[in-house]
Amino acid sequence: MAYPSEYQNLGSNSFEKGTARQRRSKWIVIGSVLALLVLIAGGVAAGIIVSNNNRNTPGSSSGKKSPSNDPSVFTKDPRLHKSFYGMAYTPEGSMFPECGNSLENVIQDIQLLSQLTTRVRLYGADCNQTALVLEAIKQTKVDMEVFLGNYVLPEDNEPYVRQRDIIKNAIQTYGTNNIAGVTVGNEFMLNYLTAREDNDPNGVNGQAGAAILKADIEDTRAMLAGLGLKKNIPVGNSDAGSFFSTEILSSIDYGLSNVHAWFANTTAEAAADWVNAFFEETNVKPAALLPNQPKMYIAETGWPTKSSDAGNANNGADDASIAGLQTFMDTFVCQANTAGVPYFFFEFFDEEWKDIQFGGVEGWWGLFNADRTLKDLKIPDCPSS
Ligand SMILES: *[C@@H]1O[C@H](CO)[C@@H](O)[C@H](O)[C@H]1NC(C)=O
Ligand SMILES: *[C@@H]1O[C@H](CO)[C@@H](O)[C@H](O)[C@H]1NC(C)=O
Repeated sequence: MAYPSEYQNLGSNSFEKGTARQRRSKWIVIGSVLALLVLIAGGVAAGIIVSNNNRNTPGSSSGKKSPSNDPSVFTKDPRLHKSFYGMAYTPEGSMFPECGNSLENVIQDIQLLSQLTTRVRLYGADCNQTALVLEAIKQTKVDMEVFLGNYVLPEDNEPYVRQRDIIKNAIQTYGTNNIAGVTVGNEFMLNYLTAREDNDPNGVNGQAGAAILKADIEDTRAMLAGLGLKKNIPVGNSDAGSFFSTEILSSIDYGLSNVHAWFANTTAEAAADWVNAFFEETNVKPAALLPNQPKMYIAETGWPTKSSDAGNANNGADDASIAGLQTFMDTFVCQANTAGVPYFFFEFFDEEWKDIQFGGVEGWWGLFNADRTLKDLKIPDCPSS
């Protein structure tokens, strides 16, 4: 698959996720050792969280029509419940410069998403996805807030600037009512350090990467301040769970952390406890010690339902399976709601471009299939606030 040059660094990310299993394993081992030191009491094995991210897919149009011309009138699916704190979302066809998303498709997604949650998080702003999502919320009149995203690349600041201006424009057009925050950077430090065969977000490389990212975070704050908004819009960052640097945590209002038990080789049965323990020890506690006390969210957590190859169909402890996703949902979702753990479930639907680009389990984390039919799952029924 050919990618525009500015997305070349995604190659290193795909390498890390797709083929450099050894490197990832090494990190998982390092992460496990560190976490074991911290989590002796629970005997919880920890690892590194490799995530899935954004990067958006070349689009396709389903051509499906809403049952009504009024997007705010749509049939509710009785199998769905608003039980999720939040959901990770990228409109299909949001990979720059191919794009190919459409308002019609985003409206259909928002109609479904609004039956599961009141919050979505985006990963980037390219291909007009910010305006499409806000327009879809406006037309469907659903109760939904959005954490906007700006996908930052280390070597080239132009994509950051382009997305910043799209976000600015969308805020000017749609106002701030449905905007919960602006997330600057997704897996920036994971990618920056991976390219340098490093894994210490606070080391020399980590500090260099953090300086690039921090400049963009501060620039986004300045952009928002310049708009003279009545509402304060929090500015945050998203990364793999082990890749938050102290410098970045000190400069954000919130952090979104990817926490994937699958890549730490737990069973589906043990996944929820692992996710909760990892998030608390690796993200919540360190953030609470800083003067600015950034609010931490789980940015992605879920369980894959299959693998495209036999080698990745089992993580060493359990299978990628629909039964596994059901178990994870049954043991994580309502419990996290009760405990007040803010999380974005990963993910809404199977994203085909991820299977094409990365293979393995990467394209198979959806509650819904790629055609937006619900997998053979029972959605938990416990309203999230
Ligand atoms: C972006 O989406 C909005 C909402 O659908 C639309 O009004 C606007 O024209 C779009 N902009 C571009 C450049 O496509
Ligand atoms: C996780 O399982 C994979 C696949 O079996 C294996 O390659 C990897 O070394 C395991 N990692 C850990 C930390 O056990």
